[in-house]
Amino acid sequence: MRSLIIAITFTAVALAGPAATAKPLKIKFSHVVAVNTPKGQMAEKFKELVEQRMPGKVEVQVFPSSQLFGDNKVLEALLLGDVQMGAPSLSKFRKYTKKLQVFDLPFLFSDIDAVERFQKGPKGKELLMSMEKKGITGLGYLHNGMKQLSASKPLRVPADAKGLKFRIQSSDVLVAQFKAIKASPQKKPFSEVFTLLQTKAIDGQENTWSNIYSKKFFEVQDYITASNHGLIDYLVVTSTEFWQGLPDDIRAGLQQALDEAIAHGNAVALEKSNSDRQAIIDSRRSTVIDLTPEEKAQWVKAMKPVWKKFEKQIGKDVIDAADAANNTGS
Ligand code: SIN
Repeated sequence: MRSLIIAITFTAVALAGPAATAKPLKIKFSHVVAVNTPKGQMAEKFKELVEQRMPGKVEVQVFPSSQLFGDNKVLEALLLGDVQMGAPSLSKFRKYTKKLQVFDLPFLFSDIDAVERFQKGPKGKELLMSMEKKGITGLGYLHNGMKQLSASKPLRVPADAKGLKFRIQSSDVLVAQFKAIKASPQKKPFSEVFTLLQTKAIDGQENTWSNIYSKKFFEVQDYITASNHGLIDYLVVTSTEFWQGLPDDIRAGLQQALDEAIAHGNAVALEKSNSDRQAIIDSRRSTVIDLTPEEKAQWVKAMKPVWKKFEKQIGKDVIDAADAANNTGS
């Protein structure tokens, strides 16, 4: 029904000719992180490009830092037509598809280049459309970076994490990952993490350098282990009904602007994975721990069995394709 209304509005405006005062199409883009992050910068760039190229036709309103909707709520809002775009972390789609859980498997991707190769390959592209039947269209992946572990005590080997409470995103793979090291995973919204850490309701969390820096987690966590054990990337999504209801030229213009905004966000992600790490070290508020190869091997050994547990849900073909992306063939 909504797509019909969008189509009728655009047709009526076109028939009425240039003299008609058409109302611009409004796109609300809701996300949970700060503006000075890869996702925040991508969303701002998208707005800038769209309004520059389609003046008077499309307006984009960006709502950062969970101002409008937090975490999983944004997907419900998308399906109700309360927002038109969002970019949740790939760990937050469990209710809509099990396949995207591949991105949560610990120690699957050796680095962001491997992630990029997988996302650009046939299986990665297929996953963009894995929620079409549920009414959600994936428009593109965006990088943030590799996850690090932070805690109130130094974590050098898995045994150090035993019994500690870690905040996790709403992913069952992440539950299994922390259970594998005998820690206690707590699913909590991103917007609550700082307070939970500050009040010591939880002992630790896992996140990227840019989220740890921009949300000041490093000010309330004494130690950060540079574990690179997992990934936080995003899927920019829209409602399939909304997207299909757009006139072809508007849809193509939006996709083009988004592709360019994503390229910009990815460049920001790359830069921030170094600069935010350094800013945290320079702050001296938190000690960054680099693991020896032997210590790292212990984390891999403890967490990697999680892959097998989720093989059926995700699909062996998907896991194998992701793993193969680590191999550049050179
Ligand atoms: C995000 O980067 O969008 C949030 C990640 C998290 O919930 O930890």
